[in-house]
Amino acid sequence: MKDLLLFLSKQGWMKSAITGFPPSRHVASRFVAGETIDDVVRATRELNAKGMSVTADHLGEHVKDLAEVKAAHAQYLELIDRIVREKLDANVSVKLSEMGLDIDPALCDENMRSLLAHAAKHAMFVRIDMESSAYTQRTMDTFLELRKTHENVGIVLQSYLHRTADDVKRTLEVQGRIRLCKGAYAEPPTVAFPDKAEVDRNFVELAGKLITSGIFHGIATHDEAMMEGTIQQARKAGLKQDAFEFQMLYGVRRDLQEKLVRDGWKLRIYVPYGENWYPYLMRRMAERPANLLFVVRSLFKG
Ligand code: FDA
Repeated sequence: MKDLLLFLSKQGWMKSAITGFPPSRHVASRFVAGETIDDVVRATRELNAKGMSVTADHLGEHVKDLAEVKAAHAQYLELIDRIVREKLDANVSVKLSEMGLDIDPALCDENMRSLLAHAAKHAMFVRIDMESSAYTQRTMDTFLELRKTHENVGIVLQSYLHRTADDVKRTLEVQGRIRLCKGAYAEPPTVAFPDKAEVDRNFVELAGKLITSGIFHGIATHDEAMMEGTIQQARKAGLKQDAFEFQMLYGVRRDLQEKLVRDGWKLRIYVPYGENWYPYLMRRMAERPANLLFVVRSLFKG
């Protein structure tokens, strides 16, 4: 089921069928703040009031059209301005394939540099999301180049990839900030651990390395066992609760989100918005096919 949903996430015909079907918007609204900057501002304000920080993401990936890349870049500049103007506790997350990596790496680099410079004026941090393994090397290369001149850039690394322990090492060598997650794409066993237990073991091991590195990292998961494994290692190392942050996705395990904050841990919520919500929604379905029940119920209600 997981592989089927991830396959469908890339199919244009399915995208048209789902996004053209009005009840789908209701389903998407559980995981996506809305389609506009106003929507993400509203969601962020609500989360900030609950003691949670935010990273805002404009949905878009694999952009093949120059005008779309330009629009996405302008959207991020505006998003940063709004976050600052509204005095929100938020930063931004961005995918390189939305900044033009598939069209022209030099343009992508230029876009990222201007985004980072704009964010830096407001002491804001920018996180580069990690996409499928077809992008890993290019994303690492771009990040390491940007890191030479920009303090406010960070990266995401995925515990399901065999290469990630090396990428963690390389990133720590340049004092880079990492968001560690399990990984959300369908990957072959040549690049990723096929066994979930291995992915989890690698996650806890890498999380331990990150939180004791003296650099501020994000541990991104909804898995209570991963959280517990991280907390135990933090306690063992005598770390303060603000030595790192947990990160979770908008609309996923709100009960756990509130518990982490109640227990005194720092928490950042990833809040996506925008019109291109289809692949993002399908990845969330693939992570927990039980979410499909929610879809079916909504369709009958709709
Ligand atoms: P796992 O998938 O094992 O799930 C553990 C439990 O969490 C489930 O049993 C269920 O209870 C709950 N859960 C998980 N997903 C759910 C969902 N969609 N709906 C409802 N419940 C759910 N990936 C990537 O490849 N590149 C990236 O840049 C990012 N960025 C990112 C940012 C943040 C803040 C988070 C939290 C995650 C990502 N991810 C990501 C996604 C990540 O790789 C992974 O696919 C999901 O977080 C699911 O993995 P878990 O660690 O939650 O565990």
